[in-house]
Amino acid sequence: MNGSVSRRLASILLLAAAPLAAQGHGQKLAGSGLMPRDSQPMPILSDIRLLRETGIKILAADDMTGVAFARITPAEQERLSAKAHEWGRCGGHEVVPIQGESVASLFGSLRAQHIKNERFERSDFRIRRSLTADRTVTAAVSQVSEQNLAETVKWLSSFPTRYNKGPRPNDHIPAVADRLKKLTAGAKFPVKIDLIDHKSTPQKSIRLRIEGKSRPSEIVVLGGHLDSIAMDWLGAGKAAPGADDNASGSANLIEAVRILAKGEQPERSIEFFWYAGEESGLLGSGEIARSYKSNKADVIGVLQLDMTLFPGDGEFVLGSMNDFTSAWLREYFRGLNEMYIKAKIMEDKCGYGCSDHASWHRQGYPALMPFESSFRRSNRDIHTKNDVINKESNFRHSAMFSKIAVAFALDLANSTLRSP
Ligand code: BES
Ligand code: ZN
Repeated sequence: MNGSVSRRLASILLLAAAPLAAQGHGQKLAGSGLMPRDSQPMPILSDIRLLRETGIKILAADDMTGVAFARITPAEQERLSAKAHEWGRCGGHEVVPIQGESVASLFGSLRAQHIKNERFERSDFRIRRSLTADRTVTAAVSQVSEQNLAETVKWLSSFPTRYNKGPRPNDHIPAVADRLKKLTAGAKFPVKIDLIDHKSTPQKSIRLRIEGKSRPSEIVVLGGHLDSIAMDWLGAGKAAPGADDNASGSANLIEAVRILAKGEQPERSIEFFWYAGEESGLLGSGEIARSYKSNKADVIGVLQLDMTLFPGDGEFVLGSMNDFTSAWLREYFRGLNEMYIKAKIMEDKCGYGCSDHASWHRQGYPALMPFESSFRRSNRDIHTKNDVINKESNFRHSAMFSKIAVAFALDLANSTLRSP
């Protein structure tokens, strides 16, 4: 048994509960993430081989990336999830909102990134760095506090829910923005905090921008989703503490901000995001990445932190997702790790766009997603009321991800490196 079992079960239970909820328990189901509002087949992206083995009709396929498009019924979704589980995957598919973006353009952007990654892996190009650590970065990394993280995760998970479709989706938002304001009040450089409105959800995202000194238009992005979700027989939206998923990553970013605010102004701008509505289909990050792309924003790299508290493969062993991410940034991360972190990295994949990094990747920006463990050893309690701090929570392990955030932000924002 592993983490994916309970998540798959939750989704199957949800399927069973769908007619009930629709009959007027007043519950809204998890949105585009897992459930259809009615019995219309859902548009999904999944792995070609997975769909073939499950006997699901493929409507369009892209051999280069191995991704296929299909429309599936709830029964097919159940079969797909079961097969995905045999393969050690979570739901094994991603529901795609086909609105402005056609299937062809979805495939197109995935192909472009795939080609770029292949070219990078085949080339002689390697990020040539003197593998000597920078003293400022080393000192900053050493300031990460496990106590701060524990306190912040405790605080965030004490909100009854941070679900984007709950009756009060923004209850926690001003409190987090306020905390960021206090943490950055003494900074020697301009820091701007904004609440971002969305079209696809009433929940707001939070952005904190540190203005770059010499190249402010070059942006280093760090983000994680602040929303949570819980599922049960009647649908979603009950108590959703989301301690690991994703108070942990959110707290890692807050702690990184605290440390950066005490330092010098970076050459490039650094933007931190706490995204809205990730659990309902990457809603906040999807809108943000699309708008950055349409404004031709020069995003150098994107670090995603989603689930960092459960050391499923042991302390200081982390997963690094190698799908929907950039080969260049993964290589860069290996260098950072050697210098500042010294974790054991296990390459793994989600098999679908499992978190906000996929929103940026889809717009052509280089993304990176270090993760608490390998996919199959990850926390089995997520998306339930049991995703709380417990004796398996490990703040020493989680602190490593704040260190990664600090090193990534300081090193990349003070360099001229960019994706080849
Ligand atoms: N934190 C999870 C993603 C995750 C779970 C990654 C387990 C690795 C292991 C994220 O918040 C999530 O639940 N994502 C959704 C997909 C999204 C498109 C709705 C999921 O995985 O079902
Ligand atoms: Zn989740």
